[in-house]
Amino acid sequence: MNNAGCGPTWRLQGWGALAWGALLMALWLLWLLELAPRGPPAPQPAITILIWHWPFADRSPELPSDTCARYGMAHCRLSTNRSLLASADVVVFHHRELETQQSLLPLAQRPPGQPWVWASMESPSHTHGLSHFRGIFNWVLSYRRDSDIFVPYGCLEPRLGPSPALPAKSGLAAWVVSNFQARQRRAGLYRQLAPHLRVDVFGRANGRPLCADCLLPTVARYRFYLSFENSQHRDYITEKFWRNALVAGAVPVVLGPPRATYEAFAPPDAFVHVDDFGSARELAAFLTGMNESRYRRFFAWRDRLRVRLLADWRERFCTICARYPHLPRGHVYEDLEGWFQD
Ligand SMILES: *[C@@H]1O[C@H](CO)[C@@H](O)[C@H](O)[C@H]1NC(C)=O
Ligand SMILES: *[C@@H]1O[C@H](CO)[C@@H](O)[C@H](O)[C@H]1NC(C)=O
Repeated sequence: MNNAGCGPTWRLQGWGALAWGALLMALWLLWLLELAPRGPPAPQPAITILIWHWPFADRSPELPSDTCARYGMAHCRLSTNRSLLASADVVVFHHRELETQQSLLPLAQRPPGQPWVWASMESPSHTHGLSHFRGIFNWVLSYRRDSDIFVPYGCLEPRLGPSPALPAKSGLAAWVVSNFQARQRRAGLYRQLAPHLRVDVFGRANGRPLCADCLLPTVARYRFYLSFENSQHRDYITEKFWRNALVAGAVPVVLGPPRATYEAFAPPDAFVHVDDFGSARELAAFLTGMNESRYRRFFAWRDRLRVRLLADWRERFCTICARYPHLPRGHVYEDLEGWFQD
């Protein structure tokens, strides 16, 4: 599996993590020794990444020269200055603005051999117009694990300090939904669950919008959170799982890719998967009948792990530099649509 964000994944634990720590320490000492007699290494040339259009925004955030260094990636420069097209090492195109034609591909000005990245964190159900982009892009940045630049919505990393106390619970299950569409699978499942399980529904769709800072404290009061993805696709696990449930301190009840996919990202006992139950009624019975000690087991991972969110596009783009030396040269996605429809 590609490493993004959390590196060698949550599976390292106990002695494994200690051994890993010792190894890193040894490498670091070696590096220091190596460094000492000769002074600092010669500066490496920075990789320049041109972002053609900032995702979902007409203006990009400030991109000071140490932007990527702040995320632990040195020798890496992000820019939205289109004058750099001729000289950039990589150019990144975010799908949504291509789809809406807010931005157009500068095909005629493309320097020969310049790698172009197609970037999107949306699922195939919400991605249109890919058939226009045959034979153009060399690399893909997305949440799919088989992307050239794999950027999940979140991941688990070792926790160094003690874990925070579990928030006090006063409700059973919460769901936040801003865009309710009856034909979506999550809507159907909710309708089946509602007669058997009290679900408090928040969000624009229900006329109970939550302000940006209110979502986490609101969800924290519930034992369970319905982490229902808007569409079910390979590896498509979003902030509904990482942030709205795990960061908030509620147990995610997931509807998305199969259980095995979630287990590649998180311990098997950190979530409830709807596919584990024969019916909505059985699922509701499991959630409502659970005693306190069983419930607490869903949080065992918090003693040694914590969530890291990868929500900021600056961090996502800086990841390109870490992957850059390992990315395939000369590869082109002839059928990007076929690759992504899964
Ligand atoms: C964009 O880059 C060009 C070429 O390096 C430079 O002359 C220009 O000042 C830059 N524009 C901005 C807004 O930084
Ligand atoms: C709590 O539930 C679990 C699983 O259903 C069961 O094995 C355990 O005995 C229960 N504990 C108590 C104290 O009732």
